[in-house]
Amino acid sequence: MTEEEHQRRPETPSDRIRKAFEVEFERFSDSPGSLPEGEKELRELQELRIKFLGKKSELAAQKKMIGSVDPKRRRDFALIFQNLEQDITRRIDEKELRLRTFVLRVRTERESIDVTMPGRRPRPGHLHPITLMRERIEDIFVSLGYAVEDDREIETDFYNFDALNIPEGHPARDPQDTFYTTDGFALRSQTSTVQIHAMQRRGAPIRMIAPGRVFRRDTPDPTHNPMFFQVEGLCVDRGITMAHLKGTLAELVHRLFGPETRTRFRPSYFPFTEPSAEVDYSCFNCGGKGCRICKGSGWIELGGSGMVHPNVLRAANVNPEEFTGFAFGLGIDRTCARIYQLDDIRLLFENDVRFLEQFR
Ligand code: FA5
Repeated sequence: MTEEEHQRRPETPSDRIRKAFEVEFERFSDSPGSLPEGEKELRELQELRIKFLGKKSELAAQKKMIGSVDPKRRRDFALIFQNLEQDITRRIDEKELRLRTFVLRVRTERESIDVTMPGRRPRPGHLHPITLMRERIEDIFVSLGYAVEDDREIETDFYNFDALNIPEGHPARDPQDTFYTTDGFALRSQTSTVQIHAMQRRGAPIRMIAPGRVFRRDTPDPTHNPMFFQVEGLCVDRGITMAHLKGTLAELVHRLFGPETRTRFRPSYFPFTEPSAEVDYSCFNCGGKGCRICKGSGWIELGGSGMVHPNVLRAANVNPEEFTGFAFGLGIDRTCARIYQLDDIRLLFENDVRFLEQFR
């Protein structure tokens, strides 16, 4: 058959299959741009093999017809499709080999280890600013002979209120201030609850501090969080007076903020202390002149304090005729915020690493 005759003859099924194969096979490359591309081409090549050589391919259908072809033409007919099948198989096999070689090479390159490369530095974690602050306070009190107590965050009415001399109907019992759980339990709203547990456990004399988490139904703002940290202090012994309280807190602020720091006691009221006082310290930044940190007043609030109420001692089985004591409760979050000059205590719990990383 001349080229011209060949062109003119009608398209046979084998021509059609070959043409369709060429069109689809064309897009497979020898060197794909990337490993994922190479892997994708390999998967698609597998699909192509099934499409053109599989049981449901047109080639398979044509081969099934060999038996029904006129015996004189049968040999030629069979030969055409055999050649076509061998051709397509060889083309796909060669392409597959190239793609597999490519994928293997790139994978090996990627997974190989360059032992001369500098190692990756581990990023060590560090303590949270509140923890740093708590540990500083703990160190000071441990050196003054105080034990560190840890206690529960969910309490009964007895520890939350009754034992702390907070009568029925007192606003502190209001569900608007306290988070109640079920069965008469509530999240403690102050660490003062630990005073009772500690005295019940150890009796008097006792010197202890209790740092911990407390919960109040306060709306978050720059100085309030619904969950924050306090540290409670309790000292009960024979002959303890207000002078011991003042001396102890003066020592605390000297060690925290420097020996020139002064304290100031303002009359206040807490049901569990009598008398009660709010404690302030002179601003560590301006020394009392007034600046941005102390909001112009020269003083910064430390917390509440007072002489332990006799009813509290009684509730914890300590004889108020024999023992007296003082107690105080400081807010760790606000103290931490002042020391690090944070405008907003909410930053402490947003867990933004850019903020926390500054406390390494
Ligand atoms: C008390 O909680 C008393 N238990 C303190 C006390 C203990 C007095 C022992 C007498 C004897 P007060 O409610 O003022 O007191 O809270 C103490 C400190 O907790 C405050 O000075 C403040 O620093 C901090 N604080 C209070 N509410 C919040 C809040 N919502 N967010 C952050 N800190 C707070």
